[in-house]
Amino acid sequence: MADQQQKVTPAPEGPTETKRTEVRTTEKKCSWASYMTNIPTVIVMIGLPARGKTYMSKKLTRYLNWIGVPTKVFNLGVYRREAVKSYKSYDFFRHDNKEAMQIRKQCALVALQDVKSYLSEEGGQIAVFDATNTTRERRELILNFAKENDYKVKAMYMELLIIKDVKVSSPDYPEQDRESVMEDFLKRIECYKVTYQPLDPDEHDKDLSFIQVINVGRQFLVNKVQDYIQSKIVYYLMNIHVHSHSIYLCRHGESHHNTEGRIGGDSELTDNGKQFSAELKAFVEEHHLSDLKVWTSQLRRTIQTAEELGVPYEQWKILNEIDAGVCEEMTYKAIEETYPEEYAMRDQDKYHYRYPGGESYQDLVQRLEPVIMELERQGNVLVICHQAVMRCLLAYFLDESADDLPYLKCPLHTVLKLTPVAYGCKVDEFDLKVQAVNTHRDRSLVSVFFSYLSV
Ligand code: SIN
Repeated sequence: MADQQQKVTPAPEGPTETKRTEVRTTEKKCSWASYMTNIPTVIVMIGLPARGKTYMSKKLTRYLNWIGVPTKVFNLGVYRREAVKSYKSYDFFRHDNKEAMQIRKQCALVALQDVKSYLSEEGGQIAVFDATNTTRERRELILNFAKENDYKVKAMYMELLIIKDVKVSSPDYPEQDRESVMEDFLKRIECYKVTYQPLDPDEHDKDLSFIQVINVGRQFLVNKVQDYIQSKIVYYLMNIHVHSHSIYLCRHGESHHNTEGRIGGDSELTDNGKQFSAELKAFVEEHHLSDLKVWTSQLRRTIQTAEELGVPYEQWKILNEIDAGVCEEMTYKAIEETYPEEYAMRDQDKYHYRYPGGESYQDLVQRLEPVIMELERQGNVLVICHQAVMRCLLAYFLDESADDLPYLKCPLHTVLKLTPVAYGCKVDEFDLKVQAVNTHRDRSLVSVFFSYLSV
């Protein structure tokens, strides 16, 4: 029986910080992603409360940071709760409550000031302004703020339209009983409805860039996409779904190269590796994962692992392990002796370091983007992959930074079950209790030093 551990990793409020150290020197340089857009973008969320704006904001932000575009969410509710410590009732959200309206506007201006600092001073490229923004007046305030403060931004609007029952969950209602919560929350939504001006694609808003997401992604209306990054955002939104599902990640069974301490190559499974494949089959059966899709790379060690399961599986070339170029099939000791400079440079900045004739982790993230997109579209999937590949996939789901990504622990013979929850991802870890060598290398002191320098 497998050992199970569980932890929930909430999506953080702030951005995932990406380190930008030049690959072959220690001189700082912007990452490739800096060139994806030359003018920063504010994504203005629009929608009544409980339409999933915060969920979408956080999820999109996680994706954009993962592909290397520094992005941060600015949630107006957080600013309002900071200004007005205790929430009393929906009355605060009435449009004729002048005092409250003034406070709400002031909160928006404070948030916009932070948006400005992020985009013009802190290297941010996309700010997601997570608020209801249900009136034209408020949407104009956002644009005018940028004009008055003399910084250039592109605006993209994302309106979430839902015609169904809402789930009540808000930090304003920590411990109250469900009925009174529901009553207050529905009244609060009614307050917004009085003045709500949805985007008007035919007349008033026809020249704006926007996407309307209708009924949790059943339909979309896309208007005037301005650039590459906006088209990527639209593509991402059109691929994600909210049905419950889990993604199971594991590495292949132990291989001969693993036991010899060699990286890369295409070696076969050891007896321990074959034992893991048998345990993985039992795991799949025990967990009744009958609708499970299984994906492997095109390398023998993942294919042999999947073969044992006795179910159909798909082989993806883009799931192949990081290409170590001239270092393929070498031990770390041999690399250190043969290519001491390369060895040292990799320690300085493991995420950006590219093996001569091979790939970097940064390259791998780009290669794996279609896998993420497809995982977002699917139900339950078991991905049998490789250490570096698993780290990249895991970093996406757990919102890990580029700096930490190459050091994520992905031991052999362990299955991670990832289940999307509210604003993050729940991780269940199953150690299938089959002996294996440890292939993890911790951050070296040099790496800690350079990581510290680049903060
Ligand atoms: C809030 O105060 O919770 C959000 C305000 C808004 O976006 O309208």
